[in-house]
Amino acid sequence: QFSDFVKIVEVGPRDGLQNEKKILPTEVKVNFIDKLSATGLRSIEVTSFVSPKWVPQMADNHQVFQHIKKRNGVSYPVLVPNLKGLQSAIAAGVKEIAVFGAASETFCKMNINCSIEESVRNFRIVVEEAKKHDIRTRGYISCIVGCPYEGETKPATTAHLASIMLDLGCYEISLGDTIGVGSPRKIKRVLNELFHISSNDMSCYALHCHDTYGQALMNIHVGLENDIKVFDSSVAGLGGCPYAAGASGNVATEDLLYFLQGQGLETGIDLDEIVGIGDYISKELNRINQSKTGVAVLAK
Ligand code: HMG
Ligand code: MG
Repeated sequence: QFSDFVKIVEVGPRDGLQNEKKILPTEVKVNFIDKLSATGLRSIEVTSFVSPKWVPQMADNHQVFQHIKKRNGVSYPVLVPNLKGLQSAIAAGVKEIAVFGAASETFCKMNINCSIEESVRNFRIVVEEAKKHDIRTRGYISCIVGCPYEGETKPATTAHLASIMLDLGCYEISLGDTIGVGSPRKIKRVLNELFHISSNDMSCYALHCHDTYGQALMNIHVGLENDIKVFDSSVAGLGGCPYAAGASGNVATEDLLYFLQGQGLETGIDLDEIVGIGDYISKELNRINQSKTGVAVLAK
């Protein structure tokens, strides 16, 4: 039914750790990322070059990026909110960045302290400057189906922002169900709208599901049915967003892998190794492992 390779973007070291009360020592973050690098993952989002006043968990971005072992064939994107962040990322040797906006005015304001329009102006500056340094840019859109402050999002709002970000030069748009309120029908509505703006080519989209209401894998299945081949996840279901009250973690990489394998799809990633890393990081954080697959495999 689906062509068989699916790419997973591991966002645990960024989306996961940005939301933890316990700030891990830099060495542990580096060790965590180095372990992930050896599993077959092709893309690991490692940190963010945001204001440390806003997200102190990511304040060691430069050290983390410099100390991780970069494997051939693996991308190590970082989040960048503005030119200042881009300059720091360039100084650290970053080759791929992600800019991040939202399909909700209030969320945009709470997360990056500006309106959607201002954010677009800012993306343009960042993407243009990144191009000059041969840095490629991924774009995130948060709140594609719902916002913690404004409720439901209109599919047209998400599609409009996606088309702008693609025009600016983002090579891929990661569609964030930031607070995990999406269900298959709602995700399908957004994807239908996106279908139109990209001339029926879905290869420029990724789906970024949080599992707050336990809908993530169902939503990912809808993504697969609609030709999406890239999914963001985090080991042990780490994650959340500091500006999205009530949002729980990303879909767990272990659960996503088990699901994709069950569907006969290839990822090139070793499930047992991922399970071991989920266990390792949960222990470092003193946190219950949120992956059902992780818990089941570890109990064997
Ligand atoms: P602001 O306060 O409006 O910015 O914040 P400012 O320009 O007035 O700067 C304030 C201070 O921050 C200044 O320092 C700047 O130098 C400094 P001061 O002069 O007071 O000492 N600053 C920086 N420092 C380091 N790196 C920078 C930087 N920029 C300014 N890049 C800003 C605006 C965008 C900076 C702030 O709102 C911010 O950093 N926001 C980031 C929030 C964030 O990281 N959120 C989580 C990621 S998004 C997410 O999780 C969703 C996602 O997973 C998808 C999904 O699930 O939907 C991606
Ligand atoms: Mg997220």
